Amino acid sequence: MTGCHGFPAAVPADRAPPLGRRKPPPYPSGMQLVTVRGLRKSVGSGRASRVLLDGADLDLRAGEMVAILGRSGSGKSTLLNLIGGIDGANGGSIEVGGLRVDRLGDAELTRYRRERVGFIFQLFHLIPELTAEENVALPARMASGEGAGAASRSYELLERFGVAGAADQLPHTLSGGEQQRVAIARALVNDAPLILADEPTGNLDPVAGRAVLTALRELCDSGRSVLLVTHEAEATASADRVEVLDEGRLTPDSAAVPA
Ligand SMILES: Nc1ncnc2c1ncn2[C@@H]1O[C@H](COP(=O)(O)OP(=O)(O)OP(=O)(O)O)[C@@H](O)[C@H]1O
Ligand SMILES: [Mg+2]
Repeated sequence: MTGCHGFPAAVPADRAPPLGRRKPPPYPSGMQLVTVRGLRKSVGSGRASRVLLDGADLDLRAGEMVAILGRSGSGKSTLLNLIGGIDGANGGSIEVGGLRVDRLGDAELTRYRRERVGFIFQLFHLIPELTAEENVALPARMASGEGAGAASRSYELLERFGVAGAADQLPHTLSGGEQQRVAIARALVNDAPLILADEPTGNLDPVAGRAVLTALRELCDSGRSVLLVTHEAEATASADRVEVLDEGRLTPDSAAVPA
């Protein structure tokens, strides 16, 4: 079977190595994992200053997938950056698995990001000098010093998303959709309890997009949690709940909750 870019198509979910089963579930299913309260964030300065988050609240349980909708520029990526510990808030609190993320120092933040979060960035952020396989393996090597284990795990993930043929290529030689799938594999390599997925199917064809949503769902079934920013109806339908970010606040979108 050949994928649309010449690499083998993604391995069908029922024949793929299971995701999230290498390690035991990090938290009991249904446990409150993420608690965001009164989150505030402004960007810019002076007359160009803009309030993006204005008292946003969010809850996410272990094993749950929550989709976040909102118009372009409403602050969705900013929200994920704050929860993922790569940007700081102006007020409010973020608790993840009992850790007050908004109060962590630099060293603790690094550890938090490495051990608890798998981040699928909207703009991928692959390291240009590393091959696809090295990009995917990097978080595993940093977390545990795994060598051969990290390489074979990375290859399995690349295979699962249909980009194993790109394992030895540098990111700039890959299409946008291929880069996106490498970035997804990288975010999943450590079996982190929390996956922050920023429009993870935005550059993919429907078949590849479905493989990603199936994988994210599987991770939830193994006790991980997914916060999914999306504009796509199919992705929204995979979620347990949908929240809409508007005017700096999140509100449940009951109309979008799947039956
Ligand atoms: N550091 C910053 N300085 C100035 N403006 C910023 C900064 N970070 C974000 N912004 C602005 O804040 C707004 C929200 O950005 P953000 O990336 O969170 O939006 P988004 O909801 O993810 O949009 P999209 O759906 O297009 O990805 C944008 O208008 C962006 O230009
Ligand atoms: Mg965004």
